[in-house]
Amino acid sequence: MSEDSTERARGVVARILARTGTALESTAGQEHYSQAGELEREARAGTRRIQGLSTELEEISEVEYRQIRLEKVVLVGLRTSGSEEEAENSLRELAALAQTAGSQVLDGVIQKRSHPDPATYLGSGKARELAELVAADGADTVIVDGDLAPSQRRGLEDVIKVKVVDRTALILDIFAQHAKSREGKAQVELAQLEYLLPRLRGWGESMSRQAGGRVASGEGIGSRGPGETKIELDRRRIRTRMAKLREQIRRMEPARRAQRANRERSKIPAVAIAGYTNAGKSTLLNALTGAGVLVEDALFATLDPTVRRTQTEDGRAYTLSDTVGFVSRLPTQLVEAFRSTLEEVGQADVIVHVVDAAHPDPVGQIQAVHSVFETIDGARDIPELIVFNKVDLASSEQRAFVRSLVPHAVLVSAATGEGIADLQHAIADMLPRPTEVIDCVVPYAHGALIHRVHEEGELIFEDYLEQGQRIRARVGGALAAALRAVAYFEGLAGEDTSGAEKDEL
Ligand code: GTP
Repeated sequence: MSEDSTERARGVVARILARTGTALESTAGQEHYSQAGELEREARAGTRRIQGLSTELEEISEVEYRQIRLEKVVLVGLRTSGSEEEAENSLRELAALAQTAGSQVLDGVIQKRSHPDPATYLGSGKARELAELVAADGADTVIVDGDLAPSQRRGLEDVIKVKVVDRTALILDIFAQHAKSREGKAQVELAQLEYLLPRLRGWGESMSRQAGGRVASGEGIGSRGPGETKIELDRRRIRTRMAKLREQIRRMEPARRAQRANRERSKIPAVAIAGYTNAGKSTLLNALTGAGVLVEDALFATLDPTVRRTQTEDGRAYTLSDTVGFVSRLPTQLVEAFRSTLEEVGQADVIVHVVDAAHPDPVGQIQAVHSVFETIDGARDIPELIVFNKVDLASSEQRAFVRSLVPHAVLVSAATGEGIADLQHAIADMLPRPTEVIDCVVPYAHGALIHRVHEEGELIFEDYLEQGQRIRARVGGALAAALRAVAYFEGLAGEDTSGAEKDEL
């Protein structure tokens, strides 16, 4: 790369990476990770891989799917149409994704070109420049901001001499790292196999290698050489595995429904935190539920939303769940896996929609999230609270802009704690309130019901009497019925509580 173009590339990179917290220089990289970041990396390393897939496919020799052990990466984007800003935003998101996958982003380049090169994706001159950049940076992986045909990937690897992966593979890797539930794992594995299937090596090439060049030596296309047999076998095994996974997922549906019904019965209001990847959902969950507590649960709550219990200032319990982050231009193979995990959102009582206030296109992000909500059963009717996060990074213009965009939104910084108390109040106001007021004496033997009143309801008054605990509380219908079955109601009329409490009723 000439000095000039290297300078230009670095200028672009500096702008792109300025907000992602990743390092520009390989030597500086690790210092940019906070302690939590280190934990995050380690935890991710611990759960790194798609067990099902890697063991299953180890024996499949002709697989194009690359296990991504991303460490030091260089990002590459192609600007075929659209503005420079759009290309930069796209590469910025790729940087955030790479970081989420646990890698350190060293550099990023964008080439302007009318269409991808069929052989090497980038033009051959640019590919060679990239090879120099990669060598100079000491990177071990290049991530392309687009979809690569298998031949393009091989062509580019031949020039660059390090591993090349595309955007879909990166997202698959992130989803695989994050999948926790059986269903989430099955959905991701299915998506990976779907990605893999067309990427088994073309049989002409594999035959010439595997069968010692029998194609070339005249046995001809169509002969059942061992190379082809092997690929066919691999394909059949993958298809069988996919069919099995689909069946497994189908059978999981009733269990999932039962789980939800349980949650509904428990009547603890549920709040789902949704939003784009990197908007700060996990950080916000931590900020809302007490910093540092259960950090490991929170950080990777994605395909299997991690649910935490917390409570309002006035003591009402509710659950908060983190959901998998949205990704723009989600690869089609992943749409199902993604949507199935977001069904949780449809079960929530309140949706907290987190938006990065300092993002260059908050409107586009909000619209994209809303269009997915539209496709989730029930999500449309759930009260939504838009929260603009990262206001510590936003300029005063950006703050004013997002405020005008959604007048009732809450502006917060999960990092500094600014606005978190306001957010807690806003959530408390939106939580559904228990519907029935009950005034009774619960025998001491039914302490579990009293416990539920504390957890699920709003206690207005309590007293300890000889025959049991006197309570006056707002509770849900099911709990009211359970209380009525065991409680005494006689002789309560004369007992007085304070006037204020009566007013409240
Ligand atoms: P995914 O799990 O990938 O969907 O991301 P997420 O939305 O859960 O975002 P996460 O909480 O992992 O935060 C992404 C990055 O933004 C991390 O590096 C956080 O430290 C950072 N971050 C989160 N909130 C804030 C904030 O209010 N201010 C600043 N400056 N950084 C923040």
